[in-house]
Amino acid sequence: MTSTSKRLLLGTNLKMYKTAKETAAYLSELRSLVDGLQDQLLLFVIPSFVALPSAVEETGDTILLGAQNMFYEEKGAFTGEISPAMLKELGGISIIEIGHSERRHIFGETSYDCNRKVLSAAAHQFIPLLCIGETAQERDYGITEEILAEQLKIGLYGLDPACPLWIAYEPVWAIGETGTAAAPDLVLRNHGTIRTILKEILGETGESVPILYGGSVSPSNLNDLLSLPDVDGLFIGRSAWQSGSFYQLIRQALPVWHAKWT
Ligand code: PGA
Repeated sequence: MTSTSKRLLLGTNLKMYKTAKETAAYLSELRSLVDGLQDQLLLFVIPSFVALPSAVEETGDTILLGAQNMFYEEKGAFTGEISPAMLKELGGISIIEIGHSERRHIFGETSYDCNRKVLSAAAHQFIPLLCIGETAQERDYGITEEILAEQLKIGLYGLDPACPLWIAYEPVWAIGETGTAAAPDLVLRNHGTIRTILKEILGETGESVPILYGGSVSPSNLNDLLSLPDVDGLFIGRSAWQSGSFYQLIRQALPVWHAKWT
């Protein structure tokens, strides 16, 4: 992205960690902490499905809300799945997270599944947040570029370039307790690759699709990551799950973000 007036994009996926009550408390604290920063910050939180109804009450227009997954069909015999209409009815969901590493690697979702979800999310006026990233083995084999290309070309196949879209680059080996934060030069290279592929797929609009980095983001690597070209925001896990720590990260990030654009 090239505009100098854009807001910092920061968000967190709460995975399967907070109950509905815990999520509501977290959001209410976070909302009061970030009050007044809306013109500089686009903040989003992605809680569990059962926390979404109460989360909608807590976020107002200060925090965007997302769902961690969504099935692509309108309705039907799909036990355990959540439809676009169910999420639409809640009235405050903006983002659908698709293809997080845990969905791909624990639940066996393929890029073809992700593609159907991306198209369905876009058709229902949600922002698809497509997560992509290579495993350690794929990195070691030297096929990261091929993996990113495959995940993007299949995942975005048939998407109207005019539809809103966010991408999160999250190397599988960088995520979670056992993850190692990616070095800035690797993030620089892979975000550049992603940008090139997005332009190939989407034409000129590929230039303005936000690309977030995720995987072991913490106060110690935030500045270096956020300063990189083509890092349009951060998708944070553990470091953002306490409202106070998330707020500290936000305060740390804002001057870095402003410095990048002046
Ligand atoms: P982490 O999680 O920041 O705890 O590594 C990132 C993610 O899974 O999105």
